[in-house]
Amino acid sequence: MTDMTKQDHVLIFDTTLRDGEQSPGATMTHDEKLEIAELLDEMGVDIIEAGFPIASEGDFEAVKQISERSKNSTICGLARANFKDIDRCWEAVKHAAKPRIHTFIGTSPLHRAIPDLSMDEMAEKIHDTVTHARNLCGDVQWSPMDATRTEHDYLCRVIEIAIKAGATTINIPDTVGYTAPRESADLIRMLIEKVPGAEDVIFATHCHNDLGMATANALAAVEAGARQIECTVNGLGERAGNTALEEVVMALKVRNDIMPYQTRIDTTKIMHISRRVATVSGFPVQFNKAIVGKNAFAHESGIHQDGMLKNSETFEIMRPEDVGIAGTSLPLGKHSGRAALRAKMNELGFDLAANQLNDIFVRFKELADRKKEVFDDDLIALVQDEVVQG
Ligand code: KIV
Ligand code: ZN
Repeated sequence: MTDMTKQDHVLIFDTTLRDGEQSPGATMTHDEKLEIAELLDEMGVDIIEAGFPIASEGDFEAVKQISERSKNSTICGLARANFKDIDRCWEAVKHAAKPRIHTFIGTSPLHRAIPDLSMDEMAEKIHDTVTHARNLCGDVQWSPMDATRTEHDYLCRVIEIAIKAGATTINIPDTVGYTAPRESADLIRMLIEKVPGAEDVIFATHCHNDLGMATANALAAVEAGARQIECTVNGLGERAGNTALEEVVMALKVRNDIMPYQTRIDTTKIMHISRRVATVSGFPVQFNKAIVGKNAFAHESGIHQDGMLKNSETFEIMRPEDVGIAGTSLPLGKHSGRAALRAKMNELGFDLAANQLNDIFVRFKELADRKKEVFDDDLIALVQDEVVQG
């Protein structure tokens, strides 16, 4: 075990404003990016990847202003493996109290073929660009894009070069969401064991969700020694998205018994930032999304509602308040039972006799068969009918 992997603290690197914004149609305005960066900083995100400064004037300005306004978080910008990108990135992030340059190149056979570089030529490019970045900034992250489809020998070789050239964080991207949990862990473990100098750097995991395994793959990588998780709010990101911040953070909190790693995230701020990111990106959150979906803390069926009214631990493994939600909701529908109806009636201020509740329950079920959800006004109307008809 290396010094880095012995630590139980996992850094949260949020890339909502870079990889998340790369999602087709998710472009945010300058002010929206500033607002999201402020929320990320306030909630305890360790590193904010604020954008890709060479991509446009707008992105440059956003990264620069986020850097100037940053309070606690490290501010990172992305740069391809060339001096022009790296210089532009540095011009934007150098205003931060804690700046980071993140430079990357595709190392798998498919990606090496695009610039048509031999393995040796690419290795030289990595050496030169990481050295250049490190001469500008003391905090340099390097990523071999498509690492999970790169030959292991070559991956070890180029990571060693990047570390010797001054990289302080080595990120292992599963760019196309191809890996699976056991393989994700084996890869990180192998790199930490084999690459000379690995003990002096932080290994990061950057997973995409093409097969729905991004969260599992990221957590497996942490168990194998990764100490930085790259993620986005709501899992926003290219194609099927990235590892969702709220999922990894809550998984580490709720299952700390088996994954004893800490983050600095104030989880009570999760729901607010989730809603803001959904609004500004125009990507609504699916109802059954883990942690932040509308139904994540809602129960309609009679058995579940009855259980929840007696003891919330029967059907909830975390408290809604811990993620910034006021409370559990028990929407009434055709699957609901008498206990939830009685609780709702009491909440609405009706103290009904047993025979009245029975009558209303029958009519409530008839109504619920016709409607998806029965609302407070529907229930008030049922009580009024009951009073009139007796
Ligand atoms: O998915 C990926 O490979 C990336 C890199 C730029 C780190 O986003
Ligand atoms: Zn990515």
